[in-house]
Amino acid sequence: MSKTVSDYNFFDPEIIESPFDFYAAARRDAPIHHLPDTNIYFVSRYEDVRKILKDTETFSNEFGAILNEPPKNPEAAAVYASGYETVDTMLTLDPPRHRVYRNLVNKVFSNKRVESMHDYMLQMADQLIDSWIDDGEVDLLTRFCVPLPVWVIADQLGVPREDLELFKKWSDAFASRLSRFADADQELEDARLIVQFQHYFVDMIEQRRKDPQDNIISDLAHARIDDGRELTHPEMLSIVQQVLVAGNETSTSTIAEGVLYLIENPAECDKLRADPSLIPNAVEEILRLATPSCGLWRLVTQDTEVQGVQIPKDALMMVRFASANRDDEHFEDAGKMDVCRHNARDNLSFGQGVHFCLGAQLARKELNVAFEKLLQRTDNWRLTEGKNSLKHWPNLILRGLEELHIDFDKIK
Ligand code: HEM
Repeated sequence: MSKTVSDYNFFDPEIIESPFDFYAAARRDAPIHHLPDTNIYFVSRYEDVRKILKDTETFSNEFGAILNEPPKNPEAAAVYASGYETVDTMLTLDPPRHRVYRNLVNKVFSNKRVESMHDYMLQMADQLIDSWIDDGEVDLLTRFCVPLPVWVIADQLGVPREDLELFKKWSDAFASRLSRFADADQELEDARLIVQFQHYFVDMIEQRRKDPQDNIISDLAHARIDDGRELTHPEMLSIVQQVLVAGNETSTSTIAEGVLYLIENPAECDKLRADPSLIPNAVEEILRLATPSCGLWRLVTQDTEVQGVQIPKDALMMVRFASANRDDEHFEDAGKMDVCRHNARDNLSFGQGVHFCLGAQLARKELNVAFEKLLQRTDNWRLTEGKNSLKHWPNLILRGLEELHIDFDKIK
């Protein structure tokens, strides 16, 4: 007999690793599924996810306290206390306050700005590929999927190349803090890195106040809000942190997962090689299947009802983008990869509504460039034997492969 939704425990690391049967059971048996012994309601169907994302009055983004829950390790808590306080800006605010911060950074990631970065990204991708193209085998995650987005975001923020290793460590520390799976040692390490991040960027903000440059930190250092005041250090750190984590981890994971999907679906890969004009649609299909930002919270502001389920004020909704993206009611044969899928762009991987991803255009550009260059310069991708567990980092809201090693042929 097939399992029902109550046979699964969402918090079980094995379910986090292989969640797709659980998602299917939830969509079928209980689309608004009250997770046992919690105040959390798990939303799994495409239409319900969309409806909830659009209703910002009932389903609030003011869930900052959940993302920044105090660590269990008291030493880590003491380290945080030596840093800057955490305040809410874009992601963890509702309208109208949300817009005040979002407007400050919208122009940096506008379509026009992103289009102008096309050649620069192609050069970066080529430079990375040049460094391993003659080897026939590569640790693709660390030598391509990680550095491409890190370089792009670091340049936008004005972080020098010599600090990039630190930059990635900070981004990983934030991702680990969000994961809810960090042990005491990891919590302490994360806290040290996050406070180091805060001091690094406060120094940089102060430098840019004196010596403006053409980058986000400089823009933020000179921005004015409300009655014409400058942003506080905690406000700026909150914005930079969101750009850092959202801009690195997700794009990295999508490139890696996309290569894996294409290895597992060689006929789809052949279609892209035969007709590269399919790449933009393939990127949407990869975003749909990979859904690296696999779910997020919403805080319920008043007693309400969805799909006949009563939901009390102060409950939490786990809005599962990754399940919505595999809903057969919206995507035909949703578990299958189809690079020509006519509605692949309906994917909810970037969310929807007022919090629609700030970096969606930038991420789409990075992904298009990444697949264009990898397909143009390398062929016959295979998983390197003995080097791939194909496991993902344990994390409730982000999904990404732990490693990806491939063998390939160089295209002459
Ligand atoms: C494949 C790559 C990416 C994915 C899948 C992704 C996913 C998402 C999702 C699902 C949201 C909506 C959150 C919500 O509804 O509460 C979001 C928001 C956001 N993303 Fe992305 N993201 C990606 C890349 C980026 C990049 C490159 C940046 C950097 C510029 C970025 C910055 C942000 C920010 C700042 C927000 C908050 C926006 C707001 O609340 O108004 N993301 N992203």
